[in-house]
Formats: sequence, C-alpha cells, structure tokens
Amino acid sequence: MQPISAFEQRSVREAARSGRCDQDGALTSNGRNATVRATSPARVTFRAGEDSNVETTTTTTLGEDGMGIRAFSDDPAAAYWEVRADSTRLCETLEVEDYGLQSMPDASPLKWHLAHTTWFFETFVLQSAKPEVDAFHPQFGYLFNSYYESVGRMHPRPERGLLSRPTVREVDQYRAHVDEHVHGWLKTGKASDEQLAVVELGLHHEQQHQELMLTDIKHGFSKNAMRPVYREPAAGASKSQGRAMRWLSHDGGISGIGHRGDAFHYDNEGPAHEVLLPPFKIADRQVTCGEYLEFMRDGGYERADLWLSAGWATVQTQNWRAPLYWEERDGEWFIFTLHGMKPVDANEPVCHVSLFEADAYARWTGFRLPTEFEWESSLGAIPIHRRDTSFHPTAAGPGPQAFGDTWVWTGSAYAPYPGYRAPPGALGEYNGKFMCSQIVLRGGSCATPRGHGRTTYRNFFHPHDRWQFSGIQLARDP
Ligand SMILES: [Fe+2]
Repeated sequence: MQPISAFEQRSVREAARSGRCDQDGALTSNGRNATVRATSPARVTFRAGEDSNVETTTTTTLGEDGMGIRAFSDDPAAAYWEVRADSTRLCETLEVEDYGLQSMPDASPLKWHLAHTTWFFETFVLQSAKPEVDAFHPQFGYLFNSYYESVGRMHPRPERGLLSRPTVREVDQYRAHVDEHVHGWLKTGKASDEQLAVVELGLHHEQQHQELMLTDIKHGFSKNAMRPVYREPAAGASKSQGRAMRWLSHDGGISGIGHRGDAFHYDNEGPAHEVLLPPFKIADRQVTCGEYLEFMRDGGYERADLWLSAGWATVQTQNWRAPLYWEERDGEWFIFTLHGMKPVDANEPVCHVSLFEADAYARWTGFRLPTEFEWESSLGAIPIHRRDTSFHPTAAGPGPQAFGDTWVWTGSAYAPYPGYRAPPGALGEYNGKFMCSQIVLRGGSCATPRGHGRTTYRNFFHPHDRWQFSGIQLARDP
C-alpha cells in the first residue's frame, strides 16, 4: 500500500469539513480515502434534511498541540508545571484519609498515583538530566514502580493500599523535590530533543493517571455507604434533552489508520497504515441510559443467547444485573456519580459497562460494535469537543457525539499495528507488552484531561472491566 499523499490528506480533510448527511442522516464522505482526522479545528456540518440543519462546533482543540493547555514545544517548562499542578488540583476536595483508599486490585490509592507519576520523572528524566541528584528515598523506586521490569522489582499492585507510609505530606515533598529539579532544568533550555520527548511522554503519562485518579476515587467512594461527594455538580446544570439516534453512513474503501506527523502520540498508535473497510454505518451518538434500561427490562441480563461465553460466565459469577454504580431503590434506578447519588437520567449515555455488556446490548438491538478502524474513519473526523468539567457524561447535543462523555468499546482486540515494534529500553514496556487479551476503546471520556484526546488514541482494558467511563456506540452493516 502506498501512503496517502499530502494532496489526498487535504482532500480528506475537505471531505470532513463538508460532510453531508443524506435523507437518513447519513454522513457521505467525498474523498477516495475516507480517512479524516480531527487534528484541525474544522467546523463540520451535518444536514439531516432541507429543513433541519444541525451543526457541531468545537469549543476546544484537544490533541492539537499535544497538551491542549499550552503547546509543549512552545514552552516545555510551563507545560510541565501546568500538568503537574492539574494532578494536585484534582485532590483539592479530598480529606487526608481519602488518599490511601484502594477498593480493588485494579484501582490504586491517589497517594500512589501522585508518587508514581513523580517516580516516572525521577527515573526516566532526572536520572538522565541531573545524575548528580540523589534519589529522594532509596525505597521509592520499589514502592512506586508500576510494571517496568527492566527497572527493577516492585511492590505488589493489590497491596498498594497497605502503604500508610510514606505519608501524604511526604509524597507532597517528593513531588516538590522532583518538580524543582525537572522544572529548573527545563527552564535552562539545555534539554536535548530526546530528553524532551521523554518529558512529554511523562506529561501524557501523568494525564492518563489523572483520569485513573478520578475513576479510582469514584470506585472507592462507591463502596462507602455514606456515598461521599467528590465534587458538587456545576451550578446551573439544566435538565437534559434527549434526541433520536441517527446513522452516519460511510462508503467504505481504503482508509488511513494511525498517527501521522510529528505531534505527540503513543507508540501503539503507529505505524500509520491503510485498511480496507466495507461500507458501514455508525451511530451518531452513544447509547443512552434509557435505551439500556429497555435492554434490562427485556431480561437482557438473563438471556444467555445475548452474551459471549466469558461474558455470561461473568454475569453469573459477579451477579451483574445493571451497569456498575446503578442501584435500584423501590423500583427506581439511581446511579452513583462523583457528585453523589442521583436518579438515572434516561438521556445520558450509559456508562461503566464492560465490553461484555456493550456486546450483549448490541446483539439485543440486532446491531454490533464498531471496529476501531470504523470508529477512527468516521467519528474520528469529528472535531474533539470538550463537553464540560463535571466528570459525568452528558446527553448528546444536536451534533455527533464522539469525545468527552464516555470511551466506547470497539469490537477490536488490542493488537499491534503492522510493523509495530516496541521501542528499546524500559519505556518500550509502556504499551507493547499489554497487546494480548484486551479490547480497544476509542474517543475519550468526561474524565479525560484536556489535551489528552486524539483521533488515533487507543485506550485498552480487559473485557470485564467497567470502572472506567466506558460506554456504547453502535455500528451496523448497511
Ligand atoms: Fe503509570
């Protein structure tokens, strides 16, 4: 396959900008290559008919500059400071007792996240940039290494909640120590391109952990009968409005997949390559709680024929009867959020479902989940849109819903792209060694930090995982 030319890429972007819906509300792509990328803050217009124009607009351009807040390449020291400060801000509403909470092996205490992200900079940046600086503490390398076997042994993940020491104050001191050295060194402007690349990776790593901090504290709080409130909802939140789902049509053809260009991306987003897509349709919004409730009321959790074998086994062993965080009280469904308990809103996207539940729901509707290539070639064209900062998914607006509410499960196994080779050294362990038994999720969620989303971003979790902000977007054959 030949890589698509710059001219063709331009044509594709133009196709995205002028994407048209047919009478069924279908997006018609104009270019030979239906690949479109959301790396341009283009305004995309979808027309559902002569008298019903609807538009999507972009309010921010996540992924444009790598950090979203400040272009890393413009001022690495400032970008470093901002991202590190974001982690601290996420803890503003917490009490000191909250920091050590580990509610399950998959979730980590916030104190551990704060220290681990600091360890990343100390180990992979500071040891190279300022080798004369001693390790902050001789045991921190063991306590806060996550999974980098080539760096050394590590504290068992399920036992991170046992670490009453170091204290929160000592972790704060650790962060301040590393920040002082890394920030001061970045300000000298003496960092090599290679070193800056590791710093930028460290910032995206920290942003990944910022989302995990939210999902992990949510899971921890959900186990407490007091149902603690992490953050009060934004003032003036209006009642949600529902709308019908429409199908966006894709003509199929050869489509470019994966990251191209020099902007930051993880190694697993490349190499860029081409895939052949049959024609397909994809839903222009995510499945709502109201729609999922219909599946539940139709016995969705009781019909083995709807489930993958491993999914059905999980339903039985875990006694699943609803998405994670749903509770039935006197015949009404409520949901635990980072704002506390609230009635289920039928218009909001269903969230905290596993791949098994997403697949069973799709089977119940007669449709299916999109492949990650279908998602990237269609919804990836939508400018990345930040919904709000409430850390809770919101009902779809008039335009397509692709980023900022829930990640969506795809039907694609997390596997290397053709020609992928993990980078040499310890940082080669970042993504490559997990390419087995996990499923790709695309898009981004209400908990994904600003500047962390990308059209080509490949998130991945096990099929039974549901503590992430994961939802459902349907696809179908024409
Ligand atoms: Fe990490």
